[in-house]
Amino acid sequence: MAGQERGSEPPRVDEGGAACTRAPQRPRAAPPLQQGPGRGLFADSVWRVGEPAAIPHKHNELTRVGCLRPVCFPPQPSYWCGHPRTVLGKEEEDDDPEKVLRTEYFEAEPEDLVAGIKIKHVTKVPHPGKAAVRDLNLNLYEGQITVLLGHNGAGKTTTLSMLTGLFPPTSGRAYVNGYEISQDMVQIRKSLGLCPQHDILFDNLTVAEHLYFYAQLKGLSRLKCPEEVQRMLHALSLEDKRDSLSRCLSGGLRRKLSIGIALIAGSKVLMLDEPTSGMDAVSRRAIWDLLQQHKSQRTVLLTTHFMDEADLLGDRVAIMAKGELQCCGSSLFLKQKYGERGGRGPAAISRLVRHHVPSATLESRAGAELSFILPKESTHRYASPGAQARP
Ligand SMILES: Nc1ncnc2c1ncn2[C@@H]1O[C@H](COP(=O)(O)OP(=O)(O)OP(=O)(O)O)[C@@H](O)[C@H]1O
Ligand SMILES: [Mg+2]
Repeated sequence: MAGQERGSEPPRVDEGGAACTRAPQRPRAAPPLQQGPGRGLFADSVWRVGEPAAIPHKHNELTRVGCLRPVCFPPQPSYWCGHPRTVLGKEEEDDDPEKVLRTEYFEAEPEDLVAGIKIKHVTKVPHPGKAAVRDLNLNLYEGQITVLLGHNGAGKTTTLSMLTGLFPPTSGRAYVNGYEISQDMVQIRKSLGLCPQHDILFDNLTVAEHLYFYAQLKGLSRLKCPEEVQRMLHALSLEDKRDSLSRCLSGGLRRKLSIGIALIAGSKVLMLDEPTSGMDAVSRRAIWDLLQQHKSQRTVLLTTHFMDEADLLGDRVAIMAKGELQCCGSSLFLKQKYGERGGRGPAAISRLVRHHVPSATLESRAGAELSFILPKESTHRYASPGAQARP
């Protein structure tokens, strides 16, 4: 292990007085995770059998983790070898009415790229009558970052959870590298790097130990691990934290580590759920650069609330609201569609503001941003969300 060559730092302590760093050592065995392929016949089979019933809950389908399989799955060759169900970039488009995607608010699909992820009419209804995701159709292409942009509760995490096999869709199908999510999750996980919305880290493993653990879980040989871990630590500017226990990391640093776990060992499909949430501006920008550098040869799905992040990072931006896909295309395409549409240009916006606050004055205009000065005496018209502005 590369870390053994490093000199030990003076130990720091956390709030409870326990040490925050540990002298580098061989990573200890960690509990089996659901991410990554199972290692070995016994462990894998136990995990799969236990999967459907992991967290039973009568009223909440999203708390049941894993996808159900028939009882006789172990002897099936497809379970062990698997094979892509679709030929990438071909077939299904001919049968499947992709016309749904070709409406006014959906940019034409790139023809020269391979779709690493295909989502076809996927719906998730955790509670009867309330769909978290409704009839989602989306293709994500290799070499591109596709950003899923949406408000709280739009259905972004639910979409990612279905694609990573956390729970099955109620209806519809999705393919990752040609493998169907409800049939071939074992195969899919071999090429999957996931950064979940809420960090899932081992409190008592150091930063470097996490990276070693996941690199080996993804199948990287022990010989190549030290170099890969060092490369990732450097890319994430986490070199000085390599021997810090994850429980002592700040929120932003934990996020960075989760991104490193997703990226390490060259995962071909990356799913990053709000990867930069809680990061300072400098770290966010560094992560943007890192993702841009790593996107070639990979299919990247990234969710965010931030329009600037979507604008800067997304080769294609898909906007979700209330579980439904509203539009999808490059930033330029979306700006052309929505920028000045529907009478929402600067003049119309000024009219709207003055309609509610007649004495408002336009202070400045920079690009697509308008600043208004609103007089204090009109506070009652805009301060309270419940206040009804009168013409
Ligand atoms: N555990 C759950 N049980 C039942 N319904 C859920 C559960 N988690 C989410 N939902 C429902 O699914 C909808 C979509 O939630 P989801 O977490 O996918 O949104 P999101 O876009 O990721 O939001 P955020 O930006 O806040 O992370 C929510 O409105 C909620 O009603
Ligand atoms: Mg979410």
